Amino acid sequence: MAEETRDNKYLVDIEHERLSFFTPAGEVKALNDVSFKMKEGEVLGIVGESGSGKSVTAYSLMGLTAYPGRLIGGTIEFNGHHINDMTEAEFRQIRGNEVSIIFQDPMTSLNPVYTVGNQIEEVIRLHTNKNKAEARERAKELLTLVGINEPEKRLKQYPHELSGGMRQRVMIAIALACEPKLLIADEPTTALDVTIQAQILELMMELRDKLGMAIIMITHDLGIVASMCEKIAVMYAGRIVEYGTTDDIFYNPRHEYTKGLIKSIPRLDAKDHERLVPIEGTPVDMLNPPAGCPFAPRCDSCMKICLREMPPVTYFSDVHYTQCWLNQKAEFEAGSMTGKEAADE
Ligand SMILES: Nc1ncnc2c1ncn2[C@@H]1O[C@H](COP(=O)(O)OP(=O)(O)O)[C@@H](O)[C@H]1O
Ligand code: SF4
Ligand SMILES: [Mg+2]
Repeated sequence: MAEETRDNKYLVDIEHERLSFFTPAGEVKALNDVSFKMKEGEVLGIVGESGSGKSVTAYSLMGLTAYPGRLIGGTIEFNGHHINDMTEAEFRQIRGNEVSIIFQDPMTSLNPVYTVGNQIEEVIRLHTNKNKAEARERAKELLTLVGINEPEKRLKQYPHELSGGMRQRVMIAIALACEPKLLIADEPTTALDVTIQAQILELMMELRDKLGMAIIMITHDLGIVASMCEKIAVMYAGRIVEYGTTDDIFYNPRHEYTKGLIKSIPRLDAKDHERLVPIEGTPVDMLNPPAGCPFAPRCDSCMKICLREMPPVTYFSDVHYTQCWLNQKAEFEAGSMTGKEAADE
């Protein structure tokens, strides 16, 4: 792929990010050379199993990986800011204003002893110079925006008086209070039942169309990203092992882990009750990651070289790429590669 010259046309531009947590047990290598870009208004899905680095990737944009986390390589740009050089005080300026986050469980994010109104107004007043009455007006507008009826009444209620879906709508309202350029949704519907989950996802897409913000949708569920996202990053052991458009990932997956994930989606049109094929094996120990491909111990197609050396990146288009030796082998056999060792099965 032609390297795009770095300029300010991207809202997010992460290049070769390496981030480790320095814990008493040792260095947890959470991100190992993560790169991706996002344009304004784009919806990116980050998928991968628990511990693969999805949250850390997103949080590093907001300065939420501080101690014991440390950026040990690469560069992160967000909305014109050089994140690498920013102080905590500077992060506080952009959090809530330019980038907001919603978490999986709204009950732990909302304060049980304050009314919904108090909490939304507090955020509005923290980030704008609106007075109390103006903040209340804005809070009402926001609740209406996220599809909550009788906003006046809801503002006076406490979080426990609302349903799970309603609480998540309140969290979205808070996240949108300052019309951020980027909304990070970290497994936002995992705690909700399927019907409510669908409604929340629909709401997020409506809001994206209305407000034009970009969204990073973090999930372990490929089904969710299929319906929402333009691009998908598949993460495994702190790396983006495959990245592409939603069509690339679903119709032309090139990494063995992505193929496994797609096979494990329950199919609505399954004939003869097609069985799910779970991916066997355990995730990588990030304190002692292997030298070669991290997926090797779980990969049915593993070759000798996979155990020895990390596969290089293979590009299939400007946006679709993967890190898997099988693709290098294919390129080598097609005569389009030189110099690199062919996979030595
Ligand atoms: N505060 C922390 N201290 C030590 N290790 C952490 C911390 N936060 C995350 N990690 C580690 O970083 C890796 C990536 O975590 P995370 O991004 O939360 O995974 P995901 O969101 O994909 O489930 C995991 O190995 C996790 O244990
Ligand atoms: S590089 Fe090797 S072990 Fe890794 S996914 Fe590809 S074939 Fe499997
Ligand atoms: Mg996470």
